Order: sequence, then structure tokens, then C-alpha cells
Amino acid sequence: MKKVIQQTQEKSDYDISIIRPQMRNEDVKLRGRQMSPSRLKAIRKGLLTLHTLELMAANIYKFQITKAPSELNRQLIAAMCNEMTHYQDFQVKLLEYGFKPNILRWAFWLVGFIFGFGSRLLGTKATLKTGIWVETKAVHHYGELLSSTDWDENSRKIIEKDQADEYGHINRWKSLLKST
Ligand SMILES: [Fe+2]
Ligand SMILES: [Fe+2]
Repeated sequence: MKKVIQQTQEKSDYDISIIRPQMRNEDVKLRGRQMSPSRLKAIRKGLLTLHTLELMAANIYKFQITKAPSELNRQLIAAMCNEMTHYQDFQVKLLEYGFKPNILRWAFWLVGFIFGFGSRLLGTKATLKTGIWVETKAVHHYGELLSSTDWDENSRKIIEKDQADEYGHINRWKSLLKST
């Protein structure tokens, strides 16, 4: 029980009301030139994992949205936009490092579609519970990658912000589930 409470705490040093942070042309940088092969290998693995998971997350929310003018749908649209930002974050990072995205990531698109559309058919509670389940896995993944990998400062800040966003999603779905 204690663990669950810890997992839903938001990181207060990031503003999670900003779902698409501003990015300037000069923020795009070529990275990794001075890094050791073992450090680069770990960064590549982490970025590939996050990139594919964010594609799945964006699709889950996209296919959970219905036509009803509800607060749930408004929040799902905001969460989808936020996940699209995360997806963009990691695609940019991969390419800055000279890596290529996972060519099989369409499989994650498909899994996202199945979870999203499937839970939508089952109703509001299933929609919210799916969100909580997936996001709890995501924050765990983020935590592992943050502690196991020697990130460059810019990438670490983005990963921390995105993890804080995922905590925010968990809390939002939990409070909506309470009032359902
Ligand atoms: Fe995300
Ligand atoms: Fe999320």
C-alpha cells in the first residue's frame, strides 16, 4: 500500500500543467561524440525503450476518446497531446545521437490501439484503470532508466519531466475513477 502512495507522488520541481514545453531551434544538438561506446549503448537502449512506449501510450489515449463532451474526454485529449510530446522528445534525442528509431515500433502502435480501443468498449472504469495500469508501468520504467543510465544533462531533465507527467496522469485517472 505504501508503495502505491509513493508511486503516485508528483515531482514538484516540474510544471506538469505544461503538456507541450517550448523548444527552440538551437535546443537541437548533435550529441554523444565524446562518449564511450558502453555509455552510448545504454543511452540508445533507454531511448529506444522510451520512444516505443510513448508511441503506445499516445495511441491508447487516442483510441479511448469518445465523442461525448465530458471532462474525461477533455483530459484524455490533453494526455494524448502530452504523450505525443514525449514521443517527439525521444525521437529527437535518438536522432541527435545518430541512432535510428526501432523499425518494429508499429507493433507498439498496434498494442496501444488494442488497449485503447478495447478499454473504450468496456467503458469508463476500464478506460481509467487501463490508464493507471499502463502509467504505473511507465513510471517504473522511467525510474529504472534514470538510475541505470548515465544520461547527458538535457536528456535527463526531459526524462524527469516526462516521468513527472506520467505521475500526473496516474493521479488524474485515480481521482476521476473515484468520482465515477
Ligand atoms: Fe508519456
Ligand atoms: Fe502518460
